[in-house]
Amino acid sequence: MHGRDAELRLCGDMLRRGRTGTGGVVLVEGQLGMGKTLLLAEAAKAAGAHGYTVVTAVADEFARTIPLSPLVLAVGDLAESADGVPAVSGEPDPRVRDISRLRQHLETLASQRPVLVTVDDLHYADPVTLFALRMMPRQLAARPVSWVLARGTDGATDGKADAALRRAAAAARRRRRGDDHRQARRGA
Ligand SMILES: Nc1ncnc2c1ncn2[C@@H]1O[C@H](COP(=O)(O)OP(=O)(O)OP(=O)(O)O)[C@@H](O)[C@H]1O
Ligand SMILES: [Mg+2]
Repeated sequence: MHGRDAELRLCGDMLRRGRTGTGGVVLVEGQLGMGKTLLLAEAAKAAGAHGYTVVTAVADEFARTIPLSPLVLAVGDLAESADGVPAVSGEPDPRVRDISRLRQHLETLASQRPVLVTVDDLHYADPVTLFALRMMPRQLAARPVSWVLARGTDGATDGKADAALRRAAAAARRRRRGDDHRQARRGA
């Protein structure tokens, strides 16, 4: 891969942090053919080489009618290795229940090895997937779970989805700065 040193370094830094403690969120945005999918693949390769479990999700325009399907399909592939996941009781909304189950699967995976979740083509993602991607990085902030999300910027963009993803990435950045600050104070 040529000319993407800065982007790869950003992902590499996150993965290094993610191995020892908390993860982070990298949001990749760009036009058609700019190398978003390739960057995700490179990040996944680096993560795999460092002992990560890699969860690979892709949104597409047909999956848009099945809420949460990109993440359910991606994590479902790994469900057998995430044993002992208890049912989520007491939550009447099936979408919230599904997001909780996904989070529990990721927690189980992250208790074994650090986890990288890549999600490609987010401009196709359904609202429940986007909601999950806003919630889960926060809920899993204390776990070794990292996220690299890619989104095409061609065509009509969904302002609300953009804002939600930017907030998730910004929250992860703020958290990291807080961590760095605390570490600096501790003299680490
Ligand atoms: N920095 C790079 N170095 C080498 N090859 C690259 C680079 N960026 C992109 N490519 C190549 O260009 C082609 C398009 O890249 P890729 O599919 O990753 O783009 P994309 O942004 O995901 O496109 P799309 O918007 O269609 O999803 C691929 O064959 C990829 O290998
Ligand atoms: Mg692509």
